[in-house]
Amino acid sequence: MIAGAVLLLATGCKSALDKKIDKMIEQMTLEEKARIIVGTGNEGRWVSETAVGDMKDVVPGAAGTTCPIERLDIPFVILADGPAGVNIDSTREHEAGTFYCTHFPIGTVMSSTWNTELVENVGQSIGDEAMHYGVDVVLGPGMNIHRHPLNGRNFEYYSEDPLLTGKTAAAMIRGIQANGVGACPKHFAANNQETNRMGNDVQVSQRALREIYLKGFEIAVREGHPKTLMTSYNKINGVSVSERRDLVTEFLRDECGFDGVVMTDWYGGDHPEEQMKAGNDLIMPGQQWQMDSIVNAVNAGRLDIKYVDQSVRRILKLIYTSPRNEPGHTYDNHPDLKAHATVTRQSATEGMVLLKNEGQALPIAHSVKEVALFGCASYDFIAGGSGSGDVRRAYTVSMLEGLQNAGYSVDPILATRYNDFVKKSIAENLSKVTTRFADMVRIRPNEMPLSESEIAAQVQRADYAIITLGRTCGEYYDRPSSDFELTDVERAMMENVCRLFHAAGKKVVVVLNIGGVIETQSWKQLPDAILCAWQPGQEGGNSVADILSGRQNPSGKLPMTFPIALTDIGANANFPVDQTSENVSVASRRVDRGEKNVDFTRYDEGIYVGYRWFDSRQVEVAYPFGYGLSYTTFDYANVKVNQSSKNIKIAVDITNSGKTAGKEVVQLYVAAPGASMDKPAKELKAFAKTAELEPGQKETVELTVAVDDLCSFDENLNKWMLEPGTYKLMVASSSRDIRHTETINIR
Ligand code: GLC
Repeated sequence: MIAGAVLLLATGCKSALDKKIDKMIEQMTLEEKARIIVGTGNEGRWVSETAVGDMKDVVPGAAGTTCPIERLDIPFVILADGPAGVNIDSTREHEAGTFYCTHFPIGTVMSSTWNTELVENVGQSIGDEAMHYGVDVVLGPGMNIHRHPLNGRNFEYYSEDPLLTGKTAAAMIRGIQANGVGACPKHFAANNQETNRMGNDVQVSQRALREIYLKGFEIAVREGHPKTLMTSYNKINGVSVSERRDLVTEFLRDECGFDGVVMTDWYGGDHPEEQMKAGNDLIMPGQQWQMDSIVNAVNAGRLDIKYVDQSVRRILKLIYTSPRNEPGHTYDNHPDLKAHATVTRQSATEGMVLLKNEGQALPIAHSVKEVALFGCASYDFIAGGSGSGDVRRAYTVSMLEGLQNAGYSVDPILATRYNDFVKKSIAENLSKVTTRFADMVRIRPNEMPLSESEIAAQVQRADYAIITLGRTCGEYYDRPSSDFELTDVERAMMENVCRLFHAAGKKVVVVLNIGGVIETQSWKQLPDAILCAWQPGQEGGNSVADILSGRQNPSGKLPMTFPIALTDIGANANFPVDQTSENVSVASRRVDRGEKNVDFTRYDEGIYVGYRWFDSRQVEVAYPFGYGLSYTTFDYANVKVNQSSKNIKIAVDITNSGKTAGKEVVQLYVAAPGASMDKPAKELKAFAKTAELEPGQKETVELTVAVDDLCSFDENLNKWMLEPGTYKLMVASSSRDIRHTETINIR
């Protein structure tokens, strides 16, 4: 009787979909199961080209598709990149019209806003665009830790800190998934360099893995509930992540509660049967030999069919709950690009970080009409990074256009000189590119040398000078160390423009149009103001002009540290800095030659990444984690701490004590007692952004930290441990601007 009841209960609570899937699995042959586990492939062509076969024209330019099984009338789904917007072809061979997508700000801009509500809103626009173009899964957010500034894909990622990473990712996932489109946080896990990314073995301690590299994914899964997730190319401690059951099943599913589809990165992993046993369900983009290997392994008794069925079940569930397969679903290929342009313009301004503003240089005084605009990036503005995280957008608003739209005038002769120089220099540089990834690397112009007389002429003509420094970066390659430094021409431009404009009592602002941190210590004393605009998407020029003109008050804060020198960074000794080795990151395998930082990378710095390193060792930095200025100031007062056995609540009154409306990001850092384990000087444990506060207006911000989140991972016991003792709570405006300190006791 009992068994029957249990069986009834079990089948009873099975949804109609589950029953349908059960039936399907019963009817599928082993070959059909292997077919749906392996994507429709793209024959080793670049990921920007779509799948082969009869799927390739469904959404041209999408990264991949699952395979339909006609015999059983099983449909398919379309997967497309990426973290900064839907990345598909903007024109089609067999269709008229254009299919432009909005290039939203890069991931680093999203985390720089510290505003999860805003991030969710951007995610919703991305998900909306995906829906209109028939894309069922967006392959984003990218959320690997900024372990080292030279990692080529940091622009796609969020932070050096796992909490800010996880919270931003969860918000992006919720946004993308708001209308049923799936998100795909990636790349799980510890994919922190591009050099030999498909073969590199990350040798990392359990504690660093748990506290730094997995923690963000844990938060993203628990608070974002992604429908899919992508494993990374690299190995961790000797085994490809997509083949590690302890990570893909035991950690991700059993511990964090992930219940969606795990897919490989494109061509990731080498042993399909191991990927099946690990719980990596979908192998993308898919090749014949992978199907054969699954069928052969089952027939040879090396792979239990239960693993195959489990993955098929998850994939079928994704297929049947994806937009295109909802009954009656249609899509029109006409998203509201105008509305999304407004979303990207506004969201980008909240992610810009004001690093310096001496003598109220910013916002530019209303009397200023003529501005002198220097730097190639002012005219050839960079919307985002290259590789799969790019977006085939309709336009990029340059600084020139943004300033003109805001009513400023720029010397047309200088503008023409720059535009001509940019075209020529790009053509020259393109002819010199030899790497295999030529079509992936965004070729930049050299900086245009400026004569003193030319600058002097601008001093006569303009009331104000703006210099833009540009840096691209992208998938497939890490940045050379030279990219971190200013070039001689850039330095000469900076020095001469500042000297001549200051001599005439006129101000200079520097705008950083970059995808990753650069050296600032050696020149930051020269200009009056510095605005880090990152790569803010296709409306970039307008977004920057909104800040410079004072239309928007900057409220971004740094999600990573600006170090003084690369050698100050803990990970620097164990990072492929200026590796000349062939970077065979795509679709090919490098023979393991045991080369340090290429075939294996030792994470010897452990948990000491970013400010955890700099602050624990009192290393001076150019700009600290969590730092960002505003056009106004904020007072912190009336801190109250309320401690229970489960969590600690901190309330603080934030008052706008300046003359301009603005938003403040309040950060809570904790210093834990380190009797049994070494602990970082501080760790971010909570943050919140105020609403826009008018001058004099006050908001009481409430931050909550779960007591469990104060634990450290004890490797010997292989579990999270809460150290008893006195904990320091630091309410802060940045990691090095502590406004109030309290202590609590944990027994
Ligand atoms: C790429 C990237 C991944 C992307 C995928 C599909 O190689 O590593 O982020 O989503 O392949 O383009």
